[in-house]
Amino acid sequence: MKRLAIVGALLGPACGGGATKPPAAPAPAGHAAHAGHHGHHAGHAAHDFADAAHWATVFDDPARDAWQKPDEVVALLAPGPGQIVADIGAGTGYFEPYLTRAVGGAGKILALDSEPAMVAYIAQRATAELWSNVVAQVIAADDPGLPTAGVDRVLIVDTWHHLPDRPRYAAKLALALRPGGTLAVVDFTRDAPMGPPAVARLDAATVAAELTAAGLVARIADESLPHQYVVLATKPTR
Ligand SMILES: C[S@@+](CC[C@H](N)C(=O)[O-])C[C@H]1O[C@@H](n2cnc3c(N)ncnc32)[C@H](O)[C@@H]1O
Repeated sequence: MKRLAIVGALLGPACGGGATKPPAAPAPAGHAAHAGHHGHHAGHAAHDFADAAHWATVFDDPARDAWQKPDEVVALLAPGPGQIVADIGAGTGYFEPYLTRAVGGAGKILALDSEPAMVAYIAQRATAELWSNVVAQVIAADDPGLPTAGVDRVLIVDTWHHLPDRPRYAAKLALALRPGGTLAVVDFTRDAPMGPPAVARLDAATVAAELTAAGLVARIADESLPHQYVVLATKPTR
């Protein structure tokens, strides 16, 4: 696994971005960098995220803000004060400052990831940055581990294409959402200059169909992100 992480660093940015600031080694430009992106294959994309400190230089690169538009993403999800939000595939916690502000002290952010190193990284960051309402937890790759009707909002950024059985996962998320609750899937468009290789990319319409099949009311959001789409899906109230 460690060898894969090194290969990843040499190949350049992962699906979290990092288009403008490559890590340690020089990265090949554009799609060439992603053609050799390790661990991705048809159906879903596995990836090695064990080197959290390395991925922090990619995911938390301040230059990401210009295209990731985290305030806009969070505004679309619209979490409110006191709500419980699950951030699935939370990575190094890029979205946590925005989410924690939105729900306030009475709310809670569940920062969930299947990679223990990422969860440990977020837990340390939560302590250092005084995010008192962020709880970091390891989850299984095929199960968000959320209680029935236990969350108001779910955010999944650059992670949907990693899930092994998306229809089944969508059904679990539909169960976990409270009636009227919303989830947002943000992922790279087919022509984005960064992100997973072509074989692992999903159209927004595909994601929306997967969420609709799970019983949610899905729509492709109107937004201004240059490289990603946002699919919003709400659980009916009855
Ligand atoms: C590209 S990163 C995105 C991180 C974060 N959402 C962000 O926008 O910066 C993908 C994250 O999803 C996690 N991940 C991959 N497969 C997963 C799965 N099946 N369940 C939960 N997390 C997963 C990885 O460990 C990694 O932290």
